[in-house]
Amino acid sequence: MKDRMKILMVASEAVPFIKAGGLSDVVGSLSGALSGLGHEVAVVLPKYSEIDFSAHKIEPFLSPMKVWMGNTRHFCAVHRAVLSGGVTAYFIEFNEYFQRNGIYHNENFEDYGDNARRFSFLSNAALKLCREINFKPDIVHCHDWQTAPAAAYLKIWYANDKLLKDAASMLTIHNIGHQGVYGGEHYDYTGLGWDNFTQDKFEDYGRTNFLKGGIHYADMVNTVSPKYAWETRHTDLGSGLQAYLNAKGDNYIGILNGADYTEWNPSSDPLIPARYSATDMKGKEKCKKELQKRMLLEEDPGKAVIGVVSRFAYQKGMDILAYVLEKILKEMEVQFVILGAGDKGLEHYYGELPKRYPGRVGSYIGYSNELAHLIEAGSDFFVMPSRYEPCGLNQIYSMKYGTLPIVSATGGLDDTVEQYDESTGGGTGFKFYEVTPHALYYTVGWAVSTYYDRKQHMKKMIKKAMETDFSWKRESLSYIDAYKKAIQIKKSR
Ligand code: ADP
Ligand code: GLC
Repeated sequence: MKDRMKILMVASEAVPFIKAGGLSDVVGSLSGALSGLGHEVAVVLPKYSEIDFSAHKIEPFLSPMKVWMGNTRHFCAVHRAVLSGGVTAYFIEFNEYFQRNGIYHNENFEDYGDNARRFSFLSNAALKLCREINFKPDIVHCHDWQTAPAAAYLKIWYANDKLLKDAASMLTIHNIGHQGVYGGEHYDYTGLGWDNFTQDKFEDYGRTNFLKGGIHYADMVNTVSPKYAWETRHTDLGSGLQAYLNAKGDNYIGILNGADYTEWNPSSDPLIPARYSATDMKGKEKCKKELQKRMLLEEDPGKAVIGVVSRFAYQKGMDILAYVLEKILKEMEVQFVILGAGDKGLEHYYGELPKRYPGRVGSYIGYSNELAHLIEAGSDFFVMPSRYEPCGLNQIYSMKYGTLPIVSATGGLDDTVEQYDESTGGGTGFKFYEVTPHALYYTVGWAVSTYYDRKQHMKKMIKKAMETDFSWKRESLSYIDAYKKAIQIKKSR
């Protein structure tokens, strides 16, 4: 086996170009980590109108590129940027699909009706690009339902292609709650063939399920934490795909997400007002002061600040927090800072809270990377009451910033946060096991009582949290092992 692999990443988002959530962080940082190991990595993304081309030095590269979707012929163009870490990013320009606001949905969070077409086109165009530029990937790495079809195109359309026939595929499931299920009428357009519209592949009660098809066709499938891999196999968290995941046997695994500590690190973060580390925490006090000031909270260094940065989606349990938040405010000496967007009802609720609890609650409804960094740095605790969480990155970032996570013990949250041990001061955060308002309420109370009553334990936990290493050092090697396995599987077919 070659030491230097050629890796084609196909994804719907990646930092530093475009981001809706953690998928973007992972695609961007994993690509960089793999390139850092000496592999040749190409990332293919759509050219969305939101991407700032001049800021990223993205240049026109190829035009026109012809892509056949079944019997439909499209002409698109390709742009390119070379990142400092050595990764090459390609952007597929096709205005009919990608020249609009938002990545997946409009301003009202309504999914675009043609997403099935948009992303099957992206998946196919990425492979066509390999042929155009003579890039012979050893592995095609797809992410979530949006690019899962690439694994299928590879086996269906490119099975005899000189350049692509040996390429193996890997599919990473970042969230099985989104499977790309659309009316069967979209299937024809994909050109994947009606003989593959069967229950074990793309068909799902008469509709098209892109993730399911990808699971069938990918040589290796993984999700983003070991616990979520288990949950999706054995519980309802598999969202109906349990049997298909189990059918993959050992070829479905969990690999924990890594964090990019060049972006998320209090000792070098340019987005926060002062830098700090586990051995010198002074800067954190300054960050807390600045956060309180900015969010119009009472500027008291002694008050516990609880931060939230979240999409307001069912998964994240922000409705569960809403249920107990005012009880917490009435009974405990705490302040809340909330950053997020999504569900309109929750946006309204959290948006109005500062007016109702002046000096005690600050919120910003919308997206702000800079504020996200300040909340990580300036808070004492970070709460994530997720109903499920494939991995979760914010708790990992929080720990690096010495901000103790309060989380439900699900998926990657359970894998990354070590439960507080009140007898020793061990652990890195506070976990609850039933995702209910009561469990959340009492666990916040437990954390807050530790803050006021067991300061030595807080110190010990903060140090341990900051020193726990969640960088890609280990897990990028797990991906390499999985790629090698995928290549073996492909060969043996
Ligand atoms: P998910 O991908 O399910 O939303 P993760 O915890 O894996 O959850 O990743 C979320 C990422 O998105 C983090 O980098 C977080 O800081 C960022 N994020 C989420 N909401 C916002 C927001 N409103 N403003 C800025 N960043 C946000
Ligand atoms: C998804 C999951 C989140 C995970 C992220 C990156 O958005 O909801 O838990 O951390 O993908 O893998």
